[in-house]
Amino acid sequence: MPSLEQVRGRLEAAGQAHALQFWPELSEAERRGFLQELAQLDLQGLREHCEGAARAAASPAPSLDPHMEPVPPESIGSVRKSDEDSLAEWESEGLLRISENRVGVLLLAGGQGTRLGVQYPKGMYDVGLPSGNTLYQIQAERIHKIQELADGKHGSKCTVPWYIMTSEFTLAPTEKFFKENNYFDLEPSNIVMFEQRMIPAVTFDGKVILQEKGKIAMAPDGNGGLYQALVDNKVLEDMKKRGVEYLHVYCVDNILVKMADPVFIGFCVSKGADCGAKVVEKACATEPVGVVCRVRGVSQVVEYSEIQRETAELRGPGGELVFSAGNICNHFFTRAFLQDVAENYKGQLKQHVALKKVAFVDTCGNQVQPTKPNAIKMEKFVFDVFPFSRNFVAFEVVRQEEFSPLKNADGASDSPTTARNALLAQHCRWARAASATLLDERGDTLSPPTSASAADNPPALCEISPLVSYFGEGLEQLLRGRTLTTPLLLDRKRAQELLMKSSIDRTRDV
Ligand code: UD1
Repeated sequence: MPSLEQVRGRLEAAGQAHALQFWPELSEAERRGFLQELAQLDLQGLREHCEGAARAAASPAPSLDPHMEPVPPESIGSVRKSDEDSLAEWESEGLLRISENRVGVLLLAGGQGTRLGVQYPKGMYDVGLPSGNTLYQIQAERIHKIQELADGKHGSKCTVPWYIMTSEFTLAPTEKFFKENNYFDLEPSNIVMFEQRMIPAVTFDGKVILQEKGKIAMAPDGNGGLYQALVDNKVLEDMKKRGVEYLHVYCVDNILVKMADPVFIGFCVSKGADCGAKVVEKACATEPVGVVCRVRGVSQVVEYSEIQRETAELRGPGGELVFSAGNICNHFFTRAFLQDVAENYKGQLKQHVALKKVAFVDTCGNQVQPTKPNAIKMEKFVFDVFPFSRNFVAFEVVRQEEFSPLKNADGASDSPTTARNALLAQHCRWARAASATLLDERGDTLSPPTSASAADNPPALCEISPLVSYFGEGLEQLLRGRTLTTPLLLDRKRAQELLMKSSIDRTRDV
């Protein structure tokens, strides 16, 4: 470890000597911790980072809007517009690749979840389902099920490894949570957690911020920090060793995420894509989702924070949004493409400026909670590698089946309530499609919601464990002709009971 004097010298050279202002007041233990933290900082690149951040905040990059064009609809694959045969073909292709151990999933879980307002990683959030399942549990169960479906079809015993990118904020609690939950009965060696880098938050005049007297305010480097983290933690080597060639990368908060979605994987593989993105039709012009589009002819995402309102609101002749392909942060990458990015492009990723409120210690030593943004955080975005791909594809999926993100606390959109309701409504649809009748607690038949009533009424409490059905399949044999009282939790045990019952008496209600 470098000495205090060495660190002081480098801080001075970087114009950051103020970081040691409170050194004399620190205890021995605090000094040790702080010195260690400072030693880990890239002190060589610090000046460049701080000056770059201040410059970027002072003169924002020119807007991309004048160069944006929508992706032509015929270049976007679509669940809605494809026939049953094509969908079945893609699914079959995806399941084959999964059964051959060639598919992995990668969770982006380094974010701080500030909007949701919890102090723990978002994946640990329980949105209030009858099962009490957290987002992590749901995702793990979907991995179990997709492995089982691929095994069932191909007589294999396959593994979909789960890579999880965390940050300094989320690694320890995520590891603890997985351990406490016995890794959700997955094989621990198939869950690979790794950490992305942290970078200092910077004031508008280019100074690092003291969050405490002996601690610099640091933040994860954005979900585009993935590509550096893959190299730092030798994750690409791990994928190669396991034979993983295709990766489904997704963000933690979408309760409807189809883990290792065989249809999406199969679509991308059959198109020979090296990179792909799932999109949904935007719900409204101001929905906070990035748009997949072309900029100067090259496919990429323009983030919701960077598109101008007038552009987002542009409408075509039929009144439809011109930029309607909403990014749901579900991406496909081949390992070969990720290797190429790691070797040739990760240094070229754009830096995005975010202005944030960061608590700090002022020069008099007082703790201050700012009321307006005082800090610049530089972030990289995971989708900024799209322009480096040779064959990028977009794939449009049905929102109500695949996208309901948990971003905010209740009372706003994309909240625990909207996520819970989206999942319950989907499971009611699945139960009805399998010809079940649902009753409320008083025994009255629940009729399917009309589009007008769906907005106001929460759906019936009907939850189907992913261990029973991944995406609605296999329910007919359990539910056909049955009348079921809600709240209903169709887990493995209940499914077994129903299966036994159907062999005894298919006509009796349950
Ligand atoms: C993200 C997408 C946006 C998309 C929306 C859909 C990006 C940059 N933006 O926006 O285009 O329409 O999801 O829901 O992808 N994360 C890290 N490390 C970080 C920061 C974030 O791993 O340093 C992870 C988060 O834990 C989360 C994911 O990245 O799983 C997305 O981050 P979040 O901040 O929620 O992105 P949004 O602004 O919602």
